Amino acid sequence: MAATARQARRPAAGVALLAFALCLLPAVARAQLRVGFYDTTCPNAEALVRQAVAAAFAKDAGVAAGLIRLHFHDCFVRGCDGSVLLTVNPGGGQTERDAAPNKPSLRGFEVIDAAKAAVERSCPRTVSCADIVAFAARDSISLTGSVSYQVPAGRRDGRVSNKSETVDLPPPSSTAKNLTDLFAAKNLSVEDMVVLSGAHTVGRSFCNSFVGRVWNQTATPPAAIVDAGLSASYAALLRALCPANTTQETPITTAMDPGTPNVLDNNYYKLLPRGMGLFFSDNQLRVDPRMAALVGSFAANETLWKEKFAAAMVKMGRTQVQTGACGEVRLNCSVVNPASSSSSIELASSTPAVDEDGVATS
Ligand code: HEM
Ligand SMILES: *[C@@H]1O[C@H](CO)[C@@H](O)[C@H](O)[C@H]1NC(C)=O
Ligand SMILES: *[C@@H]1O[C@H](CO)[C@@H](O)[C@H](O)[C@H]1NC(C)=O
Ligand SMILES: *[C@@H]1O[C@H](CO)[C@@H](O)[C@H](O)[C@H]1NC(C)=O
Ligand SMILES: *[C@@H]1O[C@H](CO)[C@@H](O)[C@H](O)[C@H]1NC(C)=O
Ligand SMILES: *[C@@H]1O[C@H](CO)[C@@H](O)[C@H](O)[C@H]1NC(C)=O
Ligand SMILES: *[C@@H]1O[C@H](CO)[C@@H](O)[C@H](O)[C@H]1NC(C)=O
Ligand SMILES: *[C@@H]1O[C@H](CO)[C@@H](O)[C@H](O)[C@H]1NC(C)=O
Repeated sequence: MAATARQARRPAAGVALLAFALCLLPAVARAQLRVGFYDTTCPNAEALVRQAVAAAFAKDAGVAAGLIRLHFHDCFVRGCDGSVLLTVNPGGGQTERDAAPNKPSLRGFEVIDAAKAAVERSCPRTVSCADIVAFAARDSISLTGSVSYQVPAGRRDGRVSNKSETVDLPPPSSTAKNLTDLFAAKNLSVEDMVVLSGAHTVGRSFCNSFVGRVWNQTATPPAAIVDAGLSASYAALLRALCPANTTQETPITTAMDPGTPNVLDNNYYKLLPRGMGLFFSDNQLRVDPRMAALVGSFAANETLWKEKFAAAMVKMGRTQVQTGACGEVRLNCSVVNPASSSSSIELASSTPAVDEDGVATS
């Protein structure tokens, strides 16, 4: 087994146990992520992920948007630890995947599974699911936007996924203050928030996330309305698309950037002043003066936005990561490693630990 060969070069189990114990000390556990983390342990890891994403993208360009959002939803709940991928919480209860912000809309899981299968074949028990999600988001941005950036890696996978913790994700009903607060809770600034929101230039939304802007569902019978900031003609289109009795289960979707839904451009910022921000939360970016100024600058300069977007993705990707001896390298991205498996401790020594220095790219 390849893992055994590598294991021979690992420090003794006692050292691994020490590293595991040190993980509990915050100052020590804060090992840095590092570009090229797998250069020696799995040199083709990033190429294999890229191939899996490219293959899926060739069949359905929409998966790129799904994968970009997957990284966001992973990072905002318990940090970028792959918790969004889990279908079972060892502690019981429902997982993040069962929560309204993710179900049924979150997509791309099968691409992560395909990428994981490829890296496991090439280098078993080495590449974390959380890093695969970060790489896949980067590759999706490259495919849709011709933007390239390097991903600092070395994230370890978590062992908890709790449905109720998805309250950290901003709902489409968020006000400007809600958005500011929810991003600040992740140490992301107002500018980071406005920059990252430009991801809504790709992908689609189910009706339920915006139906309340075009139908008053509490009136009997439901009444046509046009929410503040929404263009009347766009509202009419959305109303024709989405029935007044829309629920979370209604399987109808629409592109968020109707012109170029698979191109990562700065069109999101151009649509907002035209009353074509799809969500109430999108429109909030032009209601708040400081946010509106940023919207204007990104609408005017796509290069500026793309540079900031890549840097903000890297920054978001550092949120509350577990590194070194913390967490585990999940063998199957949908489930935590069996408790009986020695992998948590054993794998702790298979990856460079607390003495690695980060190489920032942002
Ligand atoms: C600023 C606060 C944000 C809010 C309120 C928000 C809300 C939403 C909602 C409601 C949807 C549609 C879900 C559905 O189908 O019902 C969506 C889709 C999407 N969001 Fe966000 N989002 C935010 C920030 C972000 C960020 C930071 C990113 C990534 C960097 C992102 C990337 C995406 C993408 C790519 C899609 C399309 C997904 C697909 O086509 O599968 N969003 N967002
Ligand atoms: C999930 O999180 C909630 C809120 O923090 C907590 O009350 C609950 O016990 C957690 N559930 C599990 C199974 O850990
Ligand atoms: C948004 O802000 C309102 C008013 O301050 C608050 O009641 C609500 O809980 C906030 N929502 C979120 C998701 O933070
Ligand atoms: C934000 O930064 C503070 C101070 O460095 C830190 O204690 C906290 O854990 C960080 N929060 C997140 C979500 O990264
Ligand atoms: C929706 O209809 C209800 C009942 O007629 C009314 O009280 C409410 O103000 C309406 N809401 C909007 C946003 O028009
Ligand atoms: C929703 O309304 C449509 C007509 O607009 C109707 O055909 C459909 O049966 C309704 N669905 C539900 C779940 O009530
Ligand atoms: C757009 O932004 C880029 C990157 O920051 C900058 O180099 C360029 O000068 C800007 N273009 C204009 C017209 O301001
Ligand atoms: C991963 O685990 C899920 C859930 O137990 C299972 O359905 C799937 O077949 C597993 N995948 C692999 C590659 O073993």
